[in-house]
Amino acid sequence: MVELRLPSIELFPAFQNFMAEMILSGGDKWDPYFPAKEECPIQFVERMLRRQNHPENQLVPETVFWAVANVLVVGRISLRHELKGNLHKIGGHIGYEVRPSCRRKGFATEMLRQVLLTSKAKEIGKLLLTCAPDNVASNKTIKTNGGQLTQKIFVEMVQADRNHYWISLGNQESIR
Ligand SMILES: CC(C)(COP(=O)(O)OP(=O)(O)OC[C@H]1O[C@@H](n2cnc3c(N)ncnc32)[C@H](O)[C@@H]1OP(=O)(O)O)[C@@H](O)C(=O)NCCC(=O)NCCS
Repeated sequence: MVELRLPSIELFPAFQNFMAEMILSGGDKWDPYFPAKEECPIQFVERMLRRQNHPENQLVPETVFWAVANVLVVGRISLRHELKGNLHKIGGHIGYEVRPSCRRKGFATEMLRQVLLTSKAKEIGKLLLTCAPDNVASNKTIKTNGGQLTQKIFVEMVQADRNHYWISLGNQESIR
């Protein structure tokens, strides 16, 4: 069973272990969710928590969750509270990853399900998820959680296509 937890100093050693595996697998692409150089664990945890209300420059408010299963941080998932700029094209409301050694066990599907149950997600109501068309696992994760594919767009910034999915929670207005 996986549980979404807010970053905390108690979980930091387990998060460090997750981080080491992610860095080995993907270089610096996870940086926005990892400690900055010379940032101590307390400062890092506080910065992640502050993002809910007072994000760093350029970022929109977001809730960062660490996904914990059997004392292991297996993944990370973030819920952005609003869309701004390029997030409309790439990124959307929700971003996630699962450490390579824990993939194909249903964690991403369950992490997304749980984020969609949060009051913040319900308040947003209609959420955009973007995904590379060839990312089979992520496309499946989104579809299993009710994502409706509305378009595929070419994103200049990354010179690649992105599928756009919308997930509607409740009976708000229909999908754009
Ligand atoms: C995408 C990612 C989060 C999926 O995590 P995961 O925990 O392995 O996903 P799940 O176990 O919940 O699997 C979801 C579905 O994808 C399938 N799947 C998972 N990995 C797969 C793979 N490599 N090839 C084909 N299918 C795969 C699963 O079998 C499952 O299918 P099902 O619903 O029919 O059973 C993970 O691969 C990852 O972290 N990738 C790098 C970061 C990333 O791409 N993030 C998403 C950006 S949009």
